[in-house]
Amino acid sequence: MSYVHFAARMLGLWVRVTNLRTTTSVLRLEHLEAATLLLTNEFCEREPLCRVLGIQRADVLPFFREQVRHVAMQGLGIVAVGRGGTVKGVITVEDHMDQFHPDQETTHEGLLVIGAYLDSNKIAEHILPSRKGEVYYCGLAAVAKGRENRQVLTMLILGSYKHLRNLGYVRGYAKVTNPGVTRRFKRLEKVARGPVFSSTYTANPADFCYLGSRPFAGYQGSTGVFSWNS
Ligand SMILES: CC(C)(COP(=O)(O)OP(=O)(O)OC[C@H]1O[C@@H](n2cnc3c(N)ncnc32)[C@H](O)[C@@H]1OP(=O)(O)O)[C@@H](O)C(=O)NCCC(=O)NCCS
Repeated sequence: MSYVHFAARMLGLWVRVTNLRTTTSVLRLEHLEAATLLLTNEFCEREPLCRVLGIQRADVLPFFREQVRHVAMQGLGIVAVGRGGTVKGVITVEDHMDQFHPDQETTHEGLLVIGAYLDSNKIAEHILPSRKGEVYYCGLAAVAKGRENRQVLTMLILGSYKHLRNLGYVRGYAKVTNPGVTRRFKRLEKVARGPVFSSTYTANPADFCYLGSRPFAGYQGSTGVFSWNS
């Protein structure tokens, strides 16, 4: 067993022991409404690009519902559920070759802008798969606000890592727009005592042009494409 797998197992055990009230499971249709609501609330309140564009809950809820439905049908995503069945965290995972494509006619303009920006964040050739079932994409992650949920993102990352590895996937990647996620990656690497998440592309949303304007002008942060092996 490699050191990364050993560290992931130990960390998983520690997270389970310290979060006895929270468990992870595969995202299914029964989680559709709760997961949609969590993503809607947290993205509008805390995701940097949604905040810059001033996106409102009603703008994104139908989009998230359709994406979560797509993910639930594939059975690749993960939810963290607290006592009483409350969904505290969600990570959507899709096969790279079978990704959700929103209806351009009905999708809110702000989401089309963010989608165009994410599409401009290129995926390195060496990450791309040659067949279905090889590479997965973590599209959305959200955790309910609160100190009691501070290990939930770690649980989601470890839960999806294990689930996708068991299904035979060799690699995963994510387009990260929130520095909170990058911080979590760094903390996990400290436990693994080495690099796990490789940064393959970095960009500044402020430089992005869309239909002749710069929708994220003034935003100081950067975003990145990260990949990791199973
Ligand atoms: C991203 C997210 C899942 C991270 O969850 P989390 O790790 O449980 O917790 P926090 O939000 O507390 O963030 C972790 C750390 O990153 C920091 N952080 C969070 N958002 C940040 C931001 N926009 N800019 C800079 N730092 C940020 C926090 O201050 C915290 O630092 P600390 O641990 O040193 O105090 C959660 O913030 C969330 O649901 N955000 C809304 C949706 C989103 O942005 N998803 C990710 C898109 S890539």
